Amino acid sequence: MKKRDTVVALLPLLAVALLVGWACSRFSPPPSGSEALHAQETSAASTAAPRPRWTGSPPNAKYVGSESCLTCHDESAQRFHKTKMGRIMSVNPRTGQERRGCESCHGPGGSHVDTEGGAIETLITFKKGAEPVEVQNTTCVNGCHEKGEHTFWRGSTHESRGVACVSCHKVMESVSDRYNLTKPTAMEVCSQCHQTRRAQLQRSSHMPLREGKISCSDCHNPHGTATQAMLREDSVNENCYTCHAEKRGPFLWEHAPVIESCTNCHEPHGSTNARLLKVRIPRLCQQCHVETRHPTNPYDPTTGSRYVINRGCTNCHQKIHGSNHPSGFAFTN
Ligand code: HEC
Ligand code: HEC
Ligand code: HEC
Ligand code: HEC
Ligand code: HEC
Ligand code: HEC
Ligand code: HEC
Ligand code: HEC
Ligand code: HEC
Repeated sequence: MKKRDTVVALLPLLAVALLVGWACSRFSPPPSGSEALHAQETSAASTAAPRPRWTGSPPNAKYVGSESCLTCHDESAQRFHKTKMGRIMSVNPRTGQERRGCESCHGPGGSHVDTEGGAIETLITFKKGAEPVEVQNTTCVNGCHEKGEHTFWRGSTHESRGVACVSCHKVMESVSDRYNLTKPTAMEVCSQCHQTRRAQLQRSSHMPLREGKISCSDCHNPHGTATQAMLREDSVNENCYTCHAEKRGPFLWEHAPVIESCTNCHEPHGSTNARLLKVRIPRLCQQCHVETRHPTNPYDPTTGSRYVINRGCTNCHQKIHGSNHPSGFAFTN
């Protein structure tokens, strides 16, 4: 009897403990920023099916030739041969590496073929978590993709954060029109991980990315560059000038923050303010300009509010990016 009493007494305690546990798990804040990017990758890796540990190809591994793979993987091979790389390797291989066909990427298949499809751990399979990302990436880089677009891959943010070529590229079949991407467009590829950027693109003011006219890779090289934020050009401004050439000048009257960086005033990925402005006018201007020759104080009836009427700075200062008019020192003409 006594034992039963204590059990009954413990029940409410247990219920409280469960409730608290549930509440904590429910209201713990979601991971944010770079943490979130990282968390996503590792959780995806750990859900991959358990498989034998990758051992690499044994020392006496032998290449057996693509022909011997076809008996069992004809379907995969058919798909592969429809891709650009597949066509080159099967129809017109230019180097020894390309001539190796299947085994140039998956590694020598001797043990795998001898065991009639076993010894998977000796192959590079490009499955998530199967072999280290560096091993997968080295397969793609060494001797094949180390120049041009790929010159700065080593040491790039993506490389050093353990992003795999195959998280953005699919090799055995064509899903995108060009570049063998894992999704039909580059934007969808980037959005898998960069969800904040994707969200920004949905804002009212944005460049035509979601309309498909320009793409993340017009400004960024996902394989790395020598510049900050993997921008294609040497600076933010050079990047913008490639499409907005008229903003380059030269101007007789330059506006200092424009020369310095377009991102002083604009948020390239999207904004809720018109014209991609980071902050609304007049606040935008007032971050840097205090009252000087004419009052710039907003919403104060005792000062000249005509200067701020209808968020008006650019009603008069129209040539805000620079002026070539002899009397354009204040960018009014
Ligand atoms: C005798 C049949 C046979 C031959 C020949 C063969 N394979 Fe396989 N291969 C298999 C089987 C069966 C599996 C699946 C094993 C498993 O999932 O455990 C497999 C798995 C693979 C995988 C991993 C796929 C995955 O889902 O993880 C790759 C990559 C692969 N083979 C490449 C090759 C290459 C390259 C060759 C030629 C050098 C080759 N295979 C020759 C039967 C074969
Ligand atoms: C350029 C490198 C490369 C070459 C060459 C290559 N593969 Fe693959 N293979 C991959 C990658 C990467 C994957 C992971 C899935 C993907 O990206 O499509 C893969 C996946 C596979 C798979 C898993 C199932 C599937 O179809 O996705 C098999 C089987 C396979 N390859 C067999 C072959 C055979 C057979 C050949 C030769 C005809 C071959 N591979 C040539 C890179 C390559
Ligand atoms: C973060 C995503 C991402 C990663 C990681 C990535 N790529 Fe790319 N790759 C792209 C996109 C997007 C394009 C299309 C570029 C464009 O639109 O100009 C591309 C284009 C390419 C091209 C064709 C363009 C050319 O002229 O060379 C090759 C080849 C290529 N990638 C190979 C690789 C290799 C090899 C790796 C790993 C070392 C890799 N990529 C890693 C996203 C990625
Ligand atoms: C598999 C996940 C993944 C994909 C897909 C991906 N990225 Fe990234 N990217 C990352 C991670 C992780 C970082 C590092 C973030 C950090 O350190 O805060 C990063 C950083 C960046 C940076 C900042 C670089 C710097 O030095 O500040 C840029 C720009 C970028 N990615 C562009 C792209 C573009 C463009 C694409 C699509 C072609 C893309 N990414 C696709 C994971 C990814
Ligand atoms: C019009 C050019 C342009 C386009 C298109 C563009 N970006 Fe950017 N991005 C920039 C510039 C410029 C910066 C650097 C901002 C800075 O220095 O303040 C940047 C920075 C970044 C960063 C690094 C942010 C940080 O805080 O370090 C990431 C990640 C990024 N962009 C991802 C993307 C993705 C994903 C896309 C496509 C959805 C994209 N960008 C499209 C111009 C662009
Ligand atoms: C690949 C080409 C390209 C690059 C690079 C580019 N833009 Fe644009 N931008 C466009 C296009 C296209 C439009 C839309 C023009 C239109 O609708 O008339 C646009 C529009 C804009 C607008 C006006 C938006 C609106 O709501 O009217 C601003 C502001 C802008 N871009 C700023 C920038 C900045 C800042 C950079 C550099 C970080 C940049 N752009 C780089 C192509 C580009
Ligand atoms: C001092 C703040 C500031 C800087 C820096 C700046 N802009 Fe602007 N930009 C504006 C304002 C304000 C508008 C809106 C003008 C309007 O509504 O009349 C604008 C509008 C634009 C527009 C759309 C209208 C047009 O004139 O074509 C583009 C494109 C643009 N800016 C590109 C750029 C580029 C490229 C740079 C870098 C070279 C840059 N801006 C730097 C303040 C700035
Ligand atoms: C990031 C800071 C910054 C922002 C934002 C900014 N400016 Fe400027 N502006 C400057 C600097 C610095 C100068 C150069 C001042 C000098 O040479 O004494 C300047 C010069 C000017 C001049 C020329 C007057 C002179 O003394 O040479 C005018 C007019 C002007 N800005 C108007 C604006 C307007 C209107 C806006 C908002 C659309 C704006 N500015 C936004 C920093 C900024
Ligand atoms: C009604 C037209 C008009 C409006 C609206 C206006 N300005 Fe001006 N602003 C001028 C004129 C004209 C000058 C040149 C004054 C002169 O010649 O003495 C000027 C000069 C300036 C100067 C340079 C003054 C100096 O002392 O060197 C700055 C900075 C400036 N304006 C900022 C702003 C800001 C910020 C706003 C928005 C709050 C704004 N203006 C709104 C007409 C205007």
